[in-house]
Parts: sequence; structure tokens; C-alpha cells
Amino acid sequence: ARPTRTRDRLLSRAGVCSRTAARQAIAAGRVQVDGRIVRDPEVWVDASRAVVCLDGVEVRERPKEVWLLHKPTGYVTTASDERGRATVYELLPAGHTWLAPVGRLDRDTSGLLLFTNDSDLADAITAPASKLPKTYVARCRGRLRDEAIAALAAGVPLRDGPTLPAQVRRVGDADDDHTTMLELVLVEGRNRQVRRMIEAIGSEVLTLHRRRIGPLELGDLPLGEARPTTPGELAALRAAVSPDRPDRPRPRSNRGSAR
Ligand code: URA
Repeated sequence: ARPTRTRDRLLSRAGVCSRTAARQAIAAGRVQVDGRIVRDPEVWVDASRAVVCLDGVEVRERPKEVWLLHKPTGYVTTASDERGRATVYELLPAGHTWLAPVGRLDRDTSGLLLFTNDSDLADAITAPASKLPKTYVARCRGRLRDEAIAALAAGVPLRDGPTLPAQVRRVGDADDDHTTMLELVLVEGRNRQVRRMIEAIGSEVLTLHRRRIGPLELGDLPLGEARPTTPGELAALRAAVSPDRPDRPRPRSNRGSAR
């Protein structure tokens, strides 16, 4: 099969801009395909053959990159915030190829956030089927009982369904009577999931930090700084979301031999 992309996606994949900005550029008549202006971002183009130009300059796909950001609290995971709040893009190197966040962290959450211009890899990481483990450290209100921690691990009911089994353990200062520090390893990534899980057992998250995504660890990356993956890290990440990963559930349908 020939690779085809909607035009907005083609521009974002090429590291030019976000899909939102691409749609605006297309609507403004700034994008040409094979010499003709196109204004419909939904129309599919053959990415392997079409010559796509933005403002008269040919757009080519750039090498695939993944970056790690040590996100501080107080930054929203979006390219432009309608309320004018600080965004994670302020922490990425200026003028670099366009990178999209892989999933998101809440404004009040710190820790590891990935960015990439490889939308297939991003989709593979965020797909529920990837079951890629993500490790969080949460400081929770109150002294949580062992039964409550076991309930978190077994799965708690949320309005969008029960959570999958998770690894949950106490970490840190055991003498604090007012809070409990937990490490949680989740294999799903629903919206505000950790906060909602902790609320489901009658407590509240006071601070939340993501330490690890699959094989990638924050390590000693300073708060507020970003760096590209090493080749070894990128290979490990690709292997971790590969459909051929031994422990990964097999898809039921046969999608042919092209992948
Ligand atoms: N779970 C949350 O509740 N918030 C995050 O930012 C990430 C996971």
C-alpha cells in the first residue's frame, strides 16, 4: 500500500508546524500540492509522490526524533493556551523542528513528557494496546491503609470504567502521619487517571510526578530542560511498542504483511 496522509498531517509530520497551524495555512491558500493550491485539509495525498509546498518552499519529511522534557508544574501541555498560560513549548529549543507531545501531563503534574515528530510512534505509545508502563510518584492526603493500596492495585471503579491492575507500593517517608507517598506503575493512560484513582479511594493527590515511560527514565535531566533520546533509548522505545513484543497481546484481526 502507498502511504497517504491528509494534508494537515503531512505538514505536521514533516516537522513544519502543528496540525492546527497546518489547517490554518491550508485554509489561507499557502499550501500547494503538485503545483496547485489546495484548501481542503481532509483530502488525502500520496506522501511518497506528491510535491507539497508551503509558501512556495518544498516540504520534506525530517528525520524522526523523540525528546524527553522534565516538565515542571505550572505548564500546560498544549501549543497555544487560550487563557495565555505558560505552555510546555516554552521549554523546548526555539526554532527546532516541530515536535508534538506524546499524551499529556496535567498543569499541576511534573516529570517526564515525551515529544516527537514521528506520529506513528506517538500513536503506538498512546494506543491502549501498547500497555506501555508509566511510573508515577504521588503524594496523597492522609495515611492510606494497606487495604486502600491493594484496591488501587487491583483496579478501582472510575466513571469511564474500572482501572486495569497496576503495581502500587509505598515509597519515601513512612513516618509522615498526614500524607502517603505512593509509586504507581500504570499500563493505561486515561485523562487525570492517577488523580481520579486516588480520589476513588477517598484521598487526594497533593503532588504528582512521572518518573518513567516504558524504557525511558527522567534520570538526572534538570527540571525544565529537554534533551533528545540517545540512539539506544530510541531503539528501546520502538522495541517496547513493537507489535512483535513477546508479552504484547496479539491483535485479533490479520492486518496483512505490509507492516
Ligand atoms: N495522571 C494524572 O492524574 N495526571 C497526569 O498528569 C498524569 C497521569
